Amino acid sequence: MSVSQQVFLRDAMRRLNLTRDVFAGRIGVKRRALDTWLLPEGSQEFRAMPEVVNRFVTEIVENEGLLQKYAQSAQTGPLRNRIAAEGKHQLLSVDQFSRESVEELFRIADQMQPIARRQKVSRVLEGAVLGNLFFEASTRTRVSFGAAFCRLGGSVCDTTGFTFSSMAKGESIYDTSRVMSGYVDAMVIRHPEKGSVAEFARATNIPVVNGGDGPGEHPSQALLDLYTILTEFSRLGKLLDGAHIALVGDLKYGRTVHSLLKLLSLYRGLKFTLVSPRGLEMPDYIQDQVSTRGHVIEQSHSLEQGLQGADVIYATRVQKERFAAEELEGYTPDFQVNKAIVDQCCGPDVIVMHPLPRDSREGANDLSVDLNHDPRLAIFRQTDNGIPVRMAIFAVLLGVESLVQHSLRDVTWSPPTHIGPDDSIFHGMD
Ligand code: NCD
Repeated sequence: MSVSQQVFLRDAMRRLNLTRDVFAGRIGVKRRALDTWLLPEGSQEFRAMPEVVNRFVTEIVENEGLLQKYAQSAQTGPLRNRIAAEGKHQLLSVDQFSRESVEELFRIADQMQPIARRQKVSRVLEGAVLGNLFFEASTRTRVSFGAAFCRLGGSVCDTTGFTFSSMAKGESIYDTSRVMSGYVDAMVIRHPEKGSVAEFARATNIPVVNGGDGPGEHPSQALLDLYTILTEFSRLGKLLDGAHIALVGDLKYGRTVHSLLKLLSLYRGLKFTLVSPRGLEMPDYIQDQVSTRGHVIEQSHSLEQGLQGADVIYATRVQKERFAAEELEGYTPDFQVNKAIVDQCCGPDVIVMHPLPRDSREGANDLSVDLNHDPRLAIFRQTDNGIPVRMAIFAVLLGVESLVQHSLRDVTWSPPTHIGPDDSIFHGMD
């Protein structure tokens, strides 16, 4: 490069009319990494930016069309108005997001990290009550939504399953939703029927979040998955634009992969390999939506073929509870993502993800535990990211995101530096 890295990056930010925060988000790297590239060469903290970033930024600034695409567009009003659906502050589908708004949400999630990591506390949602209505099995989604709301100073009321709810007495979604709206300030709903959470949302004016509607969508999971991928790529010096993502498993009924595939398609030039057992392929309507955005999609029924050269492997559980006529009990052994196949097909920089729970029963052949000590396994970094991302979702939907920064106080207790005994050295750091 003829000019210094500092001059080159500053010039790109100026031409794109972007602040450091927004520029970092736009090119898919962490602000901390960008800061080190912007220091004068020779200073102690200075780092050379990865070659791929150099090429990517050069490509943008040298192409008028791309320059306009990546440049700051007029962002008016609060984020919750820009992602609103049906004129309401709710989160029902990843379709509500643009690349710009998703990155804005992630900058808010970054601000939540000191709270999520128990360094700071905030009470911006003091007095607010969340109704967590889970009519389907859940551990992490229900608890992480609840914990996220509590960590912003709010309180949570829970109900789980149909048996103990008035729906077992024949109450309609409309009545349940309207009644709950009189008690709480926001609702998270998980329900076994596709479209049911949208029905809840139509019966209320308080914010509603889709915590999973049958085989439909799981937007908060996809958001935390994308946030995880961007964080991991930033650590590895990789960009999401142009990456190869392998989605593996029950792609027909897995709502997490439905939402994730659509959300990832907001990026540029991705290659997706969709690896599923026969009969459990990704629905056509989602594939069509993604291919019209110019991505390459390859379907495969062979793990060995589908994982070749992947940057991300995203494995999923067989959603047996949603099967109609399908016979499958679990995956066949040749379908199991384990250390041997990851070593055989991918490089040392691959990241292995799973929305969890993984089915650890014999014969299920879900994601193997033999990767547990392998730093490429990102599943617990992924679950940990559920907290800042869900905090950001609540802060945005309730319109308090601008209050967070000045509300932070130090914690009074001392949490361990690494919360899991097998956490990798970089887990928890930017
Ligand atoms: C998933 C779900 O419920 O869709 N779990 C989750 O929310 N993290 C995945 C699954 O159940 O397999």
